[in-house]
Formats: sequence, structure tokens, C-alpha cells
Amino acid sequence: MSNYSKTAAMMQRGTDFLGCETAILCGAMSWVSERNLVSAISNAGGFGVIACGAMTPDLLDAEIAATKAMTDKPFGVNLITMHPQLFDLIEVCKKYSVSHVVLAGGIPPKGSVEAIKAFGGKVIVFAPTLALAKKLLRSGGDALVIEGMEAGGHIGPVATSVLAQEFLPALAEDHVVFVAGGIGRGEAIASYLEMGACGVQLGTRFACASESIAHPDFKKAFFRAKARDAEASVQVDPRLPVIPVRALKNKGTEEFTKKQIEVAGMLDRKEVDMGAAQLEIEHFWAGALRRAVIDGDIENGSLMAGQSVGMVTSEEPVADIITQLMEQCEAALAGR
Ligand SMILES: Cc1cc2nc3c(=O)[nH]c(=O)nc-3n(C[C@H](O)[C@H](O)[C@H](O)COP(=O)(O)O)c2cc1C
Repeated sequence: MSNYSKTAAMMQRGTDFLGCETAILCGAMSWVSERNLVSAISNAGGFGVIACGAMTPDLLDAEIAATKAMTDKPFGVNLITMHPQLFDLIEVCKKYSVSHVVLAGGIPPKGSVEAIKAFGGKVIVFAPTLALAKKLLRSGGDALVIEGMEAGGHIGPVATSVLAQEFLPALAEDHVVFVAGGIGRGEAIASYLEMGACGVQLGTRFACASESIAHPDFKKAFFRAKARDAEASVQVDPRLPVIPVRALKNKGTEEFTKKQIEVAGMLDRKEVDMGAAQLEIEHFWAGALRRAVIDGDIENGSLMAGQSVGMVTSEEPVADIITQLMEQCEAALAGR
């Protein structure tokens, strides 16, 4: 990456940690981040991450094997901490000596970080607050992703720009921190690097790459959408452990409201406990996302997308997207 000397220098700690050429991660996207997109990202010098989502250990096994057959570059695996077979999934990562495991969706359960480190895997964590970030980094997390509410998929309540100001001055000097959420162009990458981040994670910008297997209608919905169309879901019952999800508004968004009312009723009738209620909600999203991404049902499925969706206007190869981001970042840094 000699053309991008300033960017490369500022990404050095990130690229050393990830073992790739450019510290641009493609965040795991359930159903989208499978062998094709993940290998394309890693082959283009970025860092691809398989989205395990609700996969069984056997399915994850097959996905890792297939990805390895398509790239000899490093890639990661994203595991959802509330998956009932989390430890079996970690065993699968061990079988393939996966170099980086991303633990998403909540505080890693006891023993999970240790199990990954025991086979030599590096652990990447998310944290919604600075206190939790410090705790996770103290207790074995090797790197942190801070993700703002502009992002697609499950989100927290705080904007990326605010998280960056709060977390980076406190952590960036001693820790590997990547910034995610709302990044669509390289100028934004430049500013987060200047604040101390050593790389970034993007999802929305890569979801419709040529190598993405997302259905053509899913991609068209992205190309048509503007930032304001990517709305956060509303929580209808404060008791429900609903993590807001940012997606393009459609009939599926309304279905989610109905689903919450249904699950709240199940709680009232004591048919489920809180844990089971949360799983009901998460299964809803997994099913709805599959309908949109794989079947192309853009009316009833979930079109998870971040606010940067307005900057996604056509299908482009992953390598071109990475080149644009790096050129924009380098030009911004050179012009300072
Ligand atoms: C369609 C879609 C599905 C996603 N699925 C997951 C997931 O399964 N696990 C996860 O940790 N993050 C998931 N994300 C979040 C991305 O990994 C990434 O952090 C996010 O997209 C970055 O913000 P951006 O969308 O503004 O680029 C998803 C995002 C999208 C757009």
C-alpha cells in the first residue's frame, strides 16, 4: 500500500494486529458476510469477517472451510455471545485456528474469551460504555470496536462521533481500537485515524458489493435509499429486552412492532422468561433478514442498513470500494 503512505502509517497498529494490508474491516453481516464477500474483502487487502449469526456448529464449520478455500489471507469469525452453542462454535474456530474471533451482542460469557485465547485466537470485543470497554480489555480482549448508532443492524443509543471523542483519548494510546458506524467515505476514516483509531469497520458500504450474494432486489433497495430511510426500530414495551435495529423502513418494520406485542403477551402469560423472550426477538430478526437478503422479499424482510446507505449507489467490486476509501483518506490526510 505504498501509494497510501500517510494512511498506512496511521493504520500500522491495526494492520499489524489484523495481519492484512489495510485496516478496514468489513463488519460481519448475517447472511451477507459469507464465504464470497469475506474472501473478496480479505483478498483485496481488507479484513473480512464471517457472520456466524444463528448458524449451527456444522454450518460454521462448512463456511470457514469454504472461505479458507477462497483466500489464504486472514479473516475473522463473528460469534453472537447469546448463541446457545457458543462454546461449540469456539471449538469450530479452534479446529481451523481462526486468527481473530469477534464476540458481539453482549458481554462475553465466563470462559469464552479464555477459550479463544487458549488456541491462540485474538479476541475482538464491542463495548457500549467506556467502563465496560476498560474491563473487557483488562480481562483478555485484544482489540475493541466502538460502534455508533448510525450503523446498520443492532445498535446502541450513542452516535459514532460522540463515542470516538469519549473512548479514543482514553484508550487509543494503549489499545487497538477500530471505529464503526456511519462511515461511507475515506475523509471520515482520516478523521478517526487522527483521533487515535488504528482502523475502521464498515458494513453498509460493502453489503451491495459485486461479490455480495445479497439478492438483486435487496441491493436495489439500498441504491434507492437515502440516509433518513434507515430508521431505528421502536421499543413498544419497556420490559422487553429489545436491542434497537437500524433498517430501511418497510412492512417488515411494522411486523417487528407486532412481534413485540406478541412476545410481551407471552411474558404476561408467563409462557416465556426474559431470556427466551430475547431469543424470540432475535430469531425474528434472523428470519426476517434472511427473507430480504436471500429471498429478495424487500417488503416483509428486514433491510438492515446504516445511515451511510445514501452513499451506496451502485454495485462495485470490493477492491474498488477499498481503493476509493483509501484514496479519499490519503487525500484528506495529505491536504491537512
Ligand atoms: C445487513 C447487516 C447485517 C448485520 N449483521 C450483523 C451481525 O450479524 N453481527 C454483528 O456483530 N454486526 C452486524 N451488523 C453490523 C456490521 O457488522 C457493522 O458493524 C456495521 O454495519 C457498521 O456500520 P455501517 O453499517 O454504518 O457501516 C450488520 C449490519 C448490516 C448492515
